[in-house]
Amino acid sequence: SEFVSNTTECTELQLVRQSNAEENSQESEPFKPEFTYPIFGEQETVFGYKGLQIKINYASGSLKTYLNISYKEKFNGQGTNDTGVLEAADIKGTLSEYLPSDVLSNYDEFIRIVQEDAKTFKPLGEKMSEYKVETEDGDEEQYEIYRTTFSNTKFRSYHDRMQLFALLFIEGSSYIDNEDEKWEIYTVFEKQGQNESAVYHFVGYCTAYPFFCWPENIRMRISQFLILPPYQKQGHGNSLYQTLYCIFTTRNEVCELTVEDPNEEFSNLRDKNDMRILRDQHAFQGLQAPVPEEKIKELQKRFKLTERQIRRCVEMYLLSKLN
Ligand code: ACO
Repeated sequence: SEFVSNTTECTELQLVRQSNAEENSQESEPFKPEFTYPIFGEQETVFGYKGLQIKINYASGSLKTYLNISYKEKFNGQGTNDTGVLEAADIKGTLSEYLPSDVLSNYDEFIRIVQEDAKTFKPLGEKMSEYKVETEDGDEEQYEIYRTTFSNTKFRSYHDRMQLFALLFIEGSSYIDNEDEKWEIYTVFEKQGQNESAVYHFVGYCTAYPFFCWPENIRMRISQFLILPPYQKQGHGNSLYQTLYCIFTTRNEVCELTVEDPNEEFSNLRDKNDMRILRDQHAFQGLQAPVPEEKIKELQKRFKLTERQIRRCVEMYLLSKLN
């Protein structure tokens, strides 16, 4: 058992950034994945190493990846258990099925790429919105949201690098088909500096799929929604959701915004934002229980939310009115 490691505990991720040409590279606080079972199996364990550490570093903008696997001791004895012969797991081999093919194993080379990418990397796709966040010390940080599809072949390689985050942070997620050009992918970037010399750092992303809705509409379904841990709880999830709501619902052909398997945190974010939208638009004006079916249908059509979500928001509104 001393050669058994919990893969979620021994995996560490880090974003490495270079803010401008003069500065040295800086590493973000390391953060751990939420899950590793999609890669290492239900038990999230591997056999064969003492003191195992799996480090995955990302260039903060381009997401070029560096992998380092270290351990104090490797099992090279002989033995068997219920499942057969015991031998040390091939961690690199297992991970390589999920990591991009150009993953780096030389740290100096990786840092050279971080420095180079800081000068050259720009987000792919079309800029859809921007917003600012005021930091505790009164500075303003800038953020931008971009839309891309897999028809952009450069973006396919970019997506190859970012998709591991979905497995590590979204329960039950799997890789999406990057040959299907109908996927819309929205990426969020922090922008440091201005114009040509601006440096971009990846913050999070959302994938969404347009489903046909009989007879002539589209139902937009949010599939994977993720803000990386160093950026969580700073309002980026709210900003991304609001941008998506605005983009999707202003399209004439879109009749509804749905979400695939939302978890509790996402449902909370969605409820709060939908309630803000509905309140700002005076959707609840004069509303009293029992709310007629026609009113639910009318709100659903007008705000392009699912029937379940409209009912939920109406319920929350009515409860908030109770003394
Ligand atoms: N638990 C409860 N409430 C939360 C949590 C949480 N863990 N995180 C944020 N909130 C609340 C905040 O209080 C905030 O409320 P407010 O508007 O009243 O201030 C609101 O949700 C949004 O907060 P943000 O800071 O904008 O949210 P954040 O940027 O942290 O993004 C998210 C939230 C997307 C859940 C992020 O934590 C994340 O990516 N987690 C890991 C991946 C994940 O769970 N994704 C969703 C899976 S479901 C799907 O993909 C469809």
